[in-house]
Amino acid sequence: MSRAATVRIAPSLLSADFGRLKDDLAMLEAGGADWLHFDVMDGSFVPPITFGTKVLETCRKLSSLPIDVHLMVNHPDTQLEDFAKAGASVITIHSEAASHLHRQVSRIRELGCKAGVTMNPGTPLDDIREVIADIDLLLIMSVNPGYGGQKFIPASLNKIARARTMLDAVHSSAALEVDGGVSRETITACWQAGADTFVAGNAVFSAKDPAAEIRALRALCSETV
Ligand code: DX5
Ligand code: ZN
Repeated sequence: MSRAATVRIAPSLLSADFGRLKDDLAMLEAGGADWLHFDVMDGSFVPPITFGTKVLETCRKLSSLPIDVHLMVNHPDTQLEDFAKAGASVITIHSEAASHLHRQVSRIRELGCKAGVTMNPGTPLDDIREVIADIDLLLIMSVNPGYGGQKFIPASLNKIARARTMLDAVHSSAALEVDGGVSRETITACWQAGADTFVAGNAVFSAKDPAAEIRALRALCSETV
């Protein structure tokens, strides 16, 4: 069996150089990135504040890649329409922040975007069990959200494997994404546990040759099934 065709590498713009955003976006597209990962932090759900719809509009104009918006915000329901209008392809919300998860997943799809759900490392996978058949993406956080460049939490591998089982049980074709500390050292184990979509911030942007790093990360999945 080969799952090579399903590998997606999603560089996180959190680690991009915003002084040369246009160049970084062009480099990622030419370098073979599959998606752009767009980390929105509100200073409340997580301490930092990052960027919002205005920057997303700019990215949408400058790149033709799908944009994978990760909302680390409280009350995501108040933000969905604006992020959809600004050009999100996928919108992922945290179960801890969404008081009506099913309604919000449905709303994301109504707005024409793919719907993703995620939870912090300390939150059980069970939180999203009741919406598992209704989502297009399940994101496993392999660090506590808020910062790039953190160390991968090894227990995430078991959570990825359990998430794979949950998705397969309902014959879901949803993407299974991993976010946090993904690197050459950790990506193969994530792939083998069942993930197919990999956010990489520090690994890609701190590399001397980011395009080569994207290729190397992809190869580490494709070569091992
Ligand atoms: C963390 C963000 C991540 C982050 C990943 O809260 O959700 O997307 O940018 O960064 P790395 O790959 O550096 O761990
Ligand atoms: Zn993220």
